[in-house]
Amino acid sequence: MTENSPPSEPKPSIEETVHRPVLFDEVLEILSPKEGGIYFDGTLGGGGHSLAIADRVGPEGLVIATDRDAAALDRVEARLAKEKSPGRGTVRMAQSDYADFPEVLEALHVGEVDGFLLDLGLSSDQLADQTRGFSFNAEGDLDLRFDATEGVPAWQLLRRWPAEKIADVIYRYGEERYSRRIAREIVKRRESAPLRKAAELADICRRVIPRTPGRGRERIDPATRTFQALRIAVNDELGALERFLKRAPRYLKPGGIIAIISFHSLEDRIVKNAFRDTPGLDVLTNKPIEADAREKEENPRARSAKLRAAARPL
Ligand SMILES: C[S@@+](CC[C@H](N)C(=O)[O-])C[C@H]1O[C@@H](n2cnc3c(N)ncnc32)[C@H](O)[C@@H]1O
Repeated sequence: MTENSPPSEPKPSIEETVHRPVLFDEVLEILSPKEGGIYFDGTLGGGGHSLAIADRVGPEGLVIATDRDAAALDRVEARLAKEKSPGRGTVRMAQSDYADFPEVLEALHVGEVDGFLLDLGLSSDQLADQTRGFSFNAEGDLDLRFDATEGVPAWQLLRRWPAEKIADVIYRYGEERYSRRIAREIVKRRESAPLRKAAELADICRRVIPRTPGRGRERIDPATRTFQALRIAVNDELGALERFLKRAPRYLKPGGIIAIISFHSLEDRIVKNAFRDTPGLDVLTNKPIEADAREKEENPRARSAKLRAAARPL
């Protein structure tokens, strides 16, 4: 269902996913899920990767998947109920931070897994939801939380934080060179009418950041880096990744694999260094695997995707 659907069409209670998994074949090739295996997908999203793994492990296999976003779990649950796939392994889902996976495994009496997958960042379903603040032009509140029941929405932080803190976050997590200008504008504005909507922040970024000539469609929206930075801060995305990387190797079976898709240099660097520096892990990707030209053309999200993997030796 898209916003172009005719108004007369009945709206299903749970919308189908619009998320297209990136590096789909590459993930399956590197994880090579085996019959009867147990796999943990920390970022369920629309379920594209999880269900493909479940199809490969067969009826004796198990996929355990988490997402912080309850809407993702509801969507995949509806999808599982609708799709009859007799050869598919069991899929168990939990609303959780993936960094808390040991508790999820323990609840299912699982000690070790054959593989971990993380496909970081946000999904196209979250971007399409006009109420969550991920989409720049949305009239919804600038929330940006993956789990809307935990933590503090971005618009509240922008009312509390001093200008220096706002600028630091936008600079550090967005690598935005105009971070100070943006922060100054947010603070100036909040004296009369503090911002609350996603579209208001996007408007500030577009007004404050000087236009530079770019190469047509490759030019990104001036709000991109600021939204990315706030999203990373609101969800403590780098903290979760670091916690996961510290804990995951101990839960791998011999021969087990960790595969991680990241979408910006901060994440990629953390993954690369952790794989290199963790004793007992063999790096499988000296260079990250990227999407081919066709996938990049067809799916803009794939343009910045980088897949890295490491294995526990047999
Ligand atoms: C790029 S999407 C995953 C798409 C999925 N691989 C697919 O094929 O549909 C990323 C998902 O990870 C979730 N997420 C991000 N950080 C998380 C965390 N720390 N713990 C659990 N889920 C997280 C987001 O809510 C989002 O649904």
